[in-house]
Amino acid sequence: MIGIIGGSGLYQIEGVTIKREKRVKTPFGSPSDAYLMGEFSERNVIFLPRHGKRHSIAPHRINYRANIWGFRELGVTKIISIGATGGIHRALIPGNLVVLDQVIDMTDGRKSTFWEGDTGVYHVDFTEPYCAALRKVVLTAGKKTKISVKKSGTYVCTNGPRLETRAEIRFFARAGADVVGMTAMPEAALAREAEMCYAGIAVVTNFAPGVREKKLTATEVVETMQKASGRLRTLLKETLRLVPSARKCSCKEALREAKV
Ligand code: HPA
Repeated sequence: MIGIIGGSGLYQIEGVTIKREKRVKTPFGSPSDAYLMGEFSERNVIFLPRHGKRHSIAPHRINYRANIWGFRELGVTKIISIGATGGIHRALIPGNLVVLDQVIDMTDGRKSTFWEGDTGVYHVDFTEPYCAALRKVVLTAGKKTKISVKKSGTYVCTNGPRLETRAEIRFFARAGADVVGMTAMPEAALAREAEMCYAGIAVVTNFAPGVREKKLTATEVVETMQKASGRLRTLLKETLRLVPSARKCSCKEALREAKV
């Protein structure tokens, strides 16, 4: 089963035939919204709008643990996560799609592990935060559909909800970040703890603060995402068609030897 998480401006995917909506309760609380279970590309998919379908949940208040746990309860083993981002790298412009391969986590105070209290201490390997196999499928889908996608990119995750200062973006650029957003973490780490394959597609919705002189607005973010939604739909559709059912990567055994 494949899960898709939609970010700002992406609250549903056209073409997905929704068969039912399911609310899930988890030991960590409630997910952002009901999971939309449907069919796309003759595959079963489950969609979740990260901020809720009316965009009522700010990035720092999202229950990332409940979202990932809920997917797991529904049998999801692979997640494709879409997120709006500001472009830091000079070559990135609004509308670009980036298949992420690295993360820098600058968030603070978010609940970032399932293993708390008496459940043991786990340190999952996170050298490669995104599943290489699933990334490859998205890249192949890009080639097949002739939708241009950047092959790699480092996402710096800020806590928000405020946007970044010019100096912060300059600092992140020097640290090697290509795009900035507020939601990749701890989502990616929790997916790894849940032993899921996880791929991230960053939609560059704006130039990161200070990269251009123009002031950034939230409206611009949502509008650019909506403009990209047609390309995303085609890319996701082909990705789903190409995803093999067998999992040959190591994501499915992420907890092996991770416990102290
Ligand atoms: N900064 C942080 N998060 C974002 C941005 C940004 O410029 N654009 C979309 N999400």
